[in-house]
Amino acid sequence: MATRDEIERVRDATDLASLIGEFVALQHRGREHVGLCPFHDDSRPSFAVVTHKESAFYKCHACGAAGDCFRFVQEHLGKDFGESLRFLAERAGIELTRGHDPEQEQTASRKTWLRKALDAGHAHFQRQLAGDASGRDAREVIEARGISPAMVEAFGIGCAGDGWSTLRDELACEALPAKVSVAAGLLKQREDEHTWDAFRHRLMFPISDDTGRPIAFGGRILSEDEEPKYLNSSEHDLFHKSRTLYGLHLARRSIMAEGQAIVAEGYTDVIACHQAGFTNVVATLGTAMTEQHARHLSRLCKVAVLLFDGDEAGQRAAERAIPIVLAHDIDVLICVLPDNTDPDTLLRQPNGQSRFRQALDESVDAFEFLLRRLEVDLQSTSGLSARQKATEDFAQAVVRFGIHKAAPLRRAMVTSRLAELAGVAPAVIAELLAHKADRDPSGRTSNREESTELPGMESEVEVAPALRRAELDVLAVAIHSQHADISVLHSGLPLADPTARRIAQAIQETHRSGGELTMQTLLDSLPAEDDRKIASDLYFDGERLIEASEGDQDDAIAACCDALDRCRRALDSRQRMADWKASAARDPQAAAKVIEHLRGIGPRAAAMPRPSGQ
Ligand code: UTP
Ligand code: MN
Repeated sequence: MATRDEIERVRDATDLASLIGEFVALQHRGREHVGLCPFHDDSRPSFAVVTHKESAFYKCHACGAAGDCFRFVQEHLGKDFGESLRFLAERAGIELTRGHDPEQEQTASRKTWLRKALDAGHAHFQRQLAGDASGRDAREVIEARGISPAMVEAFGIGCAGDGWSTLRDELACEALPAKVSVAAGLLKQREDEHTWDAFRHRLMFPISDDTGRPIAFGGRILSEDEEPKYLNSSEHDLFHKSRTLYGLHLARRSIMAEGQAIVAEGYTDVIACHQAGFTNVVATLGTAMTEQHARHLSRLCKVAVLLFDGDEAGQRAAERAIPIVLAHDIDVLICVLPDNTDPDTLLRQPNGQSRFRQALDESVDAFEFLLRRLEVDLQSTSGLSARQKATEDFAQAVVRFGIHKAAPLRRAMVTSRLAELAGVAPAVIAELLAHKADRDPSGRTSNREESTELPGMESEVEVAPALRRAELDVLAVAIHSQHADISVLHSGLPLADPTARRIAQAIQETHRSGGELTMQTLLDSLPAEDDRKIASDLYFDGERLIEASEGDQDDAIAACCDALDRCRRALDSRQRMADWKASAARDPQAAAKVIEHLRGIGPRAAAMPRPSGQ
């Protein structure tokens, strides 16, 4: 067993931010690093890595996950403590004294046994490929497909021999219990306990976990007349298809560097892409992209490009991608490759690389992909009610997929595109979406009132969320600007939203006490869980707002203050309008004066219907 001292040495030698940074895209926020939490379905960065305190730790303000480097490796990579220690020690170049603990072998966890079997299987398949006779067929296939030796090495490609017990006999020699090898998917077992090799005469692609250790295998036939074409390991404790992306351990750095992941459909596609220099490519394992895939990728990058070798498949995928896009902080683009080719086939063609690059450049946002189809539908539909129906159906689908969970910017984009296509004002679509969302049980309950009172203008309850948003936006920028003159906080005009008031107070107090404003200090000073959630969202919003002002914090805060001001005035005149309307009902002569007055205020007020027209 490792000593306490060794554990401390490994901990000291591990830079937590760079360890976690290998698995989660982190950004500097003052002295902290923040990112999307890998332990829950996070859509805004709630996850902070704190390294400037005496002992480094990570903490998620939303789900409460927290711990040190060992805990992270255990939780995120699914290792037990001993494995975490060895993993981190190796990473830090620290040699552990090998404890001779006879207990350890016996108490080794199920996962440790599985890993042993998988490692042994992998080594076996690689030896088979190297073997003069045993690897001949596989080497021929590799050569015929143009897979380079470097790729064979990087992807750990091997092959399974022709016999029924080649691997079984070897595993038995290594004293691995048959039931472990069966559980690991390497052997098959009959009721009478007879076992045999699960993979025979196949090209073997190891499927790795995040650290590059094999957790499963995909085996491809070596002669085209065999069946099935691909055989995949069955799932076990370490292998879940819907969570695994083939090639991720090799693509991760490049995905983070480029901010984009390309998701292909097959093993050979990933390998061909990497070989051609497209190193941010991964593949799902014979399934569509799942929630877990999206969540995992959203920790690393902002964009996932799904590759398809046909329009039809692209279409279906785009539809399936929508709920994923909406629920996760990741954009999904659809890339349909030319001539129904898969990446592997395309890249082997004469100018395949540039055609592939071109297809990637022409990728289309999943929404846009579907909107274009709607456009075609609408163009071929002449009847007004048919058009209305098509638009409504689409709106319904968008609501069902969870538009209410989407970021405001995306919601606005979908709304305006849909409006454009349907040839109506965006407000109409917004209304349609809100209306449908109200009825959608999964939708956010909104307590909007019927806006019968004053048609043609947003109802008061619609202005109120806008005001709240404007107030929060100002705060979002304020959090990021240590020196900005946050006049809104001192203007004496109280913020209308209670949460905004509490957050503003927390910001002010920190400034007043001369303390540094970090996500941590801010969240620490907000006792209510709901406030903390909103505050951590603000970190993300503020960044986006500052980006929108080309990185200038002062400009950003000025723009947000302006927006808030406009909002306040709109709400104000809205209130005055209601008051006047009430008095106009009592005194029609005064009503004429009211209208006169409103015309002077601005275009929106001038467009108001006459109160007497109600
Ligand atoms: P494809 O049939 O498109 O294979 O399946 P491919 O990757 O292009 O293979 P080559 O080029 O013919 O060698 C795409 C993916 O679907 C899964 C595998 O993950 C495969 O890579 N698949 C396919 C299976 O799991 N089982 C099958 O029988 C076929
Ligand atoms: Mn192929």
